[in-house]
Amino acid sequence: MTKKWIMLASAFLFTTAFLTGSARFVAEDEPITISEVMKEAMKGGLNKKVAEGSASADEKDRLLVLYKGLAANEPPQGDLESWKAKTAALVLAAEGAVKGEAEAPGLLKGAANCKACHDAHRP
Ligand code: HEC
Repeated sequence: MTKKWIMLASAFLFTTAFLTGSARFVAEDEPITISEVMKEAMKGGLNKKVAEGSASADEKDRLLVLYKGLAANEPPQGDLESWKAKTAALVLAAEGAVKGEAEAPGLLKGAANCKACHDAHRP
């Protein structure tokens, strides 16, 4: 009888350890750097592809992940409020693209203003 309880208890502990372990793994997922987003979404052309409507569903999802990552960064230069506003506009536009909203392409083109953001935030 005692042995059975010990087995049950260890099975429970193992499951708990496993679940918290995997939750931690998700939370500690590598943060996305500004540089990565620039190379993949901006210079790499993913933003343009989504704005032109020729991107696949996976590519739209990826753009949203990249912009959320971008927004989680702090700008290397310039005002934090301005950075938040610019990156939030990108996240909103990418969300619109994922949902297939008609105004999303226009929003994406407007929000991905290279010069405006570089003048304010690129060292
Ligand atoms: C929301 C702000 C923002 C927008 C919009 C933006 N950039 Fe950037 N970009 C930055 C910042 C900030 C850096 C500097 C990153 C650093 O030095 O840490 C940068 C750096 C870069 C780099 C250098 C990346 C590297 O590390 O090699 C390239 C290339 C680039 N941007 C291209 C573009 C292009 C092309 C567009 C427009 C289609 C664009 N960016 C739009 C903020 C932005």
